[in-house]
Amino acid sequence: MTHMKANDLAALDRAHALHPWQNLDPDPGDSPLVISRGEGCHLWDADGRQYLDAVGGLWCTQIGLGNAEMAKAIADQAQRLAFSSTFTDITNDPAALLAARLAALAPDGLSRVHFTTGGSTAIDSAYRMVQFVQAARGFPERTHVVARQHSYHGSTFAAMSIGLRDGDRAAGFTYKDDTIHHVSAPSLYRRPEGMETGDLTDHLVAEFEAEIERIGAERIAAFFAEPIQASGGVLVPPPDYLARMAQVCRRHGILFVADEVVTGFGRLGEWFASEAVYGVTPDIICCAKGLSSGYQPIGAVIFSEELFKDMEGHGWYVSGYTYAGHPVACAAALKNIEIIERDGILAHAAAVGANYQKAMRRLSDLPIVGDVRGACLIGCVENVADKATKRPFPDEVDIGRRISDAAEKRGLLVRPMGALNVMSPPLILTEDQVDFIEENLRAAIIEVTDDLVRDGVRVA
Ligand SMILES: Cc1ncc(COP(=O)(O)O)c(C=O)c1O
Repeated sequence: MTHMKANDLAALDRAHALHPWQNLDPDPGDSPLVISRGEGCHLWDADGRQYLDAVGGLWCTQIGLGNAEMAKAIADQAQRLAFSSTFTDITNDPAALLAARLAALAPDGLSRVHFTTGGSTAIDSAYRMVQFVQAARGFPERTHVVARQHSYHGSTFAAMSIGLRDGDRAAGFTYKDDTIHHVSAPSLYRRPEGMETGDLTDHLVAEFEAEIERIGAERIAAFFAEPIQASGGVLVPPPDYLARMAQVCRRHGILFVADEVVTGFGRLGEWFASEAVYGVTPDIICCAKGLSSGYQPIGAVIFSEELFKDMEGHGWYVSGYTYAGHPVACAAALKNIEIIERDGILAHAAAVGANYQKAMRRLSDLPIVGDVRGACLIGCVENVADKATKRPFPDEVDIGRRISDAAEKRGLLVRPMGALNVMSPPLILTEDQVDFIEENLRAAIIEVTDDLVRDGVRVA
C-alpha cells in the first residue's frame, strides 16, 4: 500500500483526522499507533513491530485477521455484485441467504431480520421498531424505554441516549432524556455497600419494578440490555438477573431488546448469549461486530415472528440505510458464519475461554488488582489504589492507560477504559497466547505499580 514510516503516517493523521472519542486536550500525548497488517491474533504497526491484539479490534475480530477464505469471498462478491439496494422490494442473493441463516441461528421464534450498517444503527432501528410494534398492538402511548446505567449501545443520537456511560455525554449537547430512563447496572464488584452478592438480583428487580411503577407500565415500550455490559466495564450480571428482569418485562407487556453486539457470535461460546447462557428469549436481538468478524461493516436486528405479525398491515416501516443488506458485507458474514461452524470455533472459544478466565483471575494476587471479571473470551482487570476499600486511583494517574502503554511496549494490546484494562481477544486464541497475555499483563501491572510507588502515589 505505502512505504511511509509510522511517524510520517502519524503526522498525517494528526494533521487531518478526528478520531472517534479523540481527546482534544492541548497535550496530544503519544502519537497514534499506526497499524498496517493483521494475521490471526496479531497486528503489526507501520514500523513492523508485532503485537498480540487482546482487544480483538474492538470486540469484533472473532475468526482472526488475514483469513484468505474471507478475503476471497469478499473479492468474489465485489466482482459479481458490489452494490445493490435492499430498499422496499428489492434484494440480493447474499442478503436473502444471510437473513435465512441468522433466523436459523437465532433462538426459536426469532425468524425476521432487518439489516443495518453496524451496532448503533441496529439499536437505533430497534428503538423505532419497539414503538412501531406497540402502536400496531394498540398501545401508541408506549413510547418510553428503560435501559441501564453504565451501558453503551452505540453512537447515533438514539443509541447514545439509550446508553449512559460516565463521560460519554458531550457538554452542550442534549440527549433524549424525557422518554429514556436508566436503572442501576448489575455490578457485583461495586454493589451497594453492605449488600451480599446473593441479594443483588432482588435489589435490582425491585428497583426496576419501582421505576416501571413511577413511569407507568402503560407508557413503556421496551427494556434494552446487553447480556454482559461490555464497554460499561465488563459487568457480568448475577446468573439469574437477566431472566428475572425479562419476567418483569413480560408481566408488564414490555418488549425485551438484547443488545448482543458484543456477546453475539461466539464471544461467550454460543451464537447468541441471551438464551443459551442466560435463559432469556428476547423479542429482539441486535447484533453486529462478530457477525462479520470485523471484515465488513454490518449489523442486524433479529426479531420475532410474533412481532412481525403484529407489524403487518400497519403501513410503512420507516428505517433503513443505503448500505443495509450490502451484498459484500452479507457475503462476508455468510463466510464468517461458515468458518465459525466448520472449524468448531464456538467450542474452541468455550474451552480456551475457560483457561483465559483462570489465567486472568491469577492476576488478583497483585496489589492494585481490585477485581478480575469476565466470562469466556471477554474480560477485564479493575485497578484500584486500595483493595480493601476499593478506593480508585486519582483520575490524573490514568491507571488503565499507563498499564496499556506498558503492555504495548511488551507487544500486548489491552484496552484502557478509565481504571480498567479490557480484553476481548479473537476466538481463535491459543493456549500459548493465553500465557502470553497473562505474563505480559502481569509484568505491565508490576512495572506501573513500581513506578507509582517510586513517584509517591499511595498504594495499599
Ligand atoms: C454493546 C454495544 N452495542 C452497540 C455498539 C455500537 O456498535 P457500532 O460501533 O458498530 O455502531 C457497541 C460498540 O462497541 C457495543 O459495544
